[in-house]
Amino acid sequence: MNTVSTMAENLIGSEIIKLAGEINEKIKQGQSIYNFTIGDFDPRVFPLPEELENEIVQAYRQGHTNYPPANGMLELRNAVVDWNQKMYGLSYDKEQILISGGSRPLIYAIYNTILDAGEKVLYPVPSWNNNHYTHLNHGQRLEVEATPENNFMPTAAQLEPHLTEAALVALCSPLNPTGTIFTEAALKEICALILAENKKREGKRKPLYLLYDQVYGALLFNNEKHYTPVELYPEMKAYTIFVDGISKAFAATGVRVGWAFGPSNVIDKMKAILSHIGAWSPKAEQVATAHYLMKHDYADFLNHFKTEIYARLTALYDGFKALKAEGFALDVIQPQAAIYLTVRFDLVGKKIKGTGQQLNDMKAVSAYLLEKASLAIVPFYAFGAPADSPWFRVSVGTCKKEEIPEVFELLRKALLELE
Ligand SMILES: Cc1ncc(COP(=O)(O)O)c(C=O)c1O
Repeated sequence: MNTVSTMAENLIGSEIIKLAGEINEKIKQGQSIYNFTIGDFDPRVFPLPEELENEIVQAYRQGHTNYPPANGMLELRNAVVDWNQKMYGLSYDKEQILISGGSRPLIYAIYNTILDAGEKVLYPVPSWNNNHYTHLNHGQRLEVEATPENNFMPTAAQLEPHLTEAALVALCSPLNPTGTIFTEAALKEICALILAENKKREGKRKPLYLLYDQVYGALLFNNEKHYTPVELYPEMKAYTIFVDGISKAFAATGVRVGWAFGPSNVIDKMKAILSHIGAWSPKAEQVATAHYLMKHDYADFLNHFKTEIYARLTALYDGFKALKAEGFALDVIQPQAAIYLTVRFDLVGKKIKGTGQQLNDMKAVSAYLLEKASLAIVPFYAFGAPADSPWFRVSVGTCKKEEIPEVFELLRKALLELE
């Protein structure tokens, strides 16, 4: 017998947070670990923009401590109109924008607004938390497994057979956990299918909506470009709900300012749901973010920030490539965006020399890398990929450049101890 709702009873905690907890416990016990597990920033390595910090302090001093409007401060929604235009060439009215305490409540509200109990959400694995949001909203999962040949981005061919059954498609680019992005052609093909499906539904069924999570959209490297459904097909405006915010773009995960924008019928309901939950972004943070985006040169911050992230990603990429060239059983995907690198370790079945002990599964491989190389990274099964997927996410938000050579020295030693 359940003592709480069936939904709550069956809720699984985030695998990533669980893993991070285990690692922090080891660190507390004095073990030195290269903790590349969390999709967050160490403020000592990647601090907030100084002007944003000052604006926050000032906003509190000016007394912005009461309730903000339910859809967010007007000045912040105006700043988001400007951000959308400058960053992505997207034109949205301030009334089609909803501010919240980071992006998470908005994702929850999109699911909650679109889905009736038992309806299906189509998304790729690996991906970030779609399984949990589906469960929380009494939906059913329709998962397609993305492959390394496509940089782990889902393809139109994979999604097409499932579109008729789905109520919501959830896509993310740049993708957490892979640090890869949609090509223009790939996203265009998917949007064409969604539009065709909606033509069929016209007047008969609820439309098929697309959640498009672009919280890493400001963090692209090497002249890579972020594409959006709406710039590729303006008709997608009626079906696309975007998720964005400052958490990743400005190393501001603890500040809690996020926004969604999309068709008014959806955004207005999301506003009503989130105002009952009270998931507003604090008023002072909203005012400060508005001032920061409108009065300060955030392009300067972003250039520096991206250079620093990319330096770490490329140093790690080169290190893994070098080990591969030496003949070690691993592979790595070229980083394109976000703060992540995708690495493969083919170590299941290997034995630890002189012990007879064998690495039987991916849990054992992760544990071996942690014990012997002090390297903490997240296996893709934590993002819904199959339990035997040999791929991992490496996050550089806490990575100090000077520790990278040590990481590879230890890793090489650990790999040499396997046969
Ligand atoms: C893809 C993606 N979307 C949304 C979020 C949530 O961001 P926030 O901290 O703004 O809630 C994250 C955080 O890790 C993420 O990786």
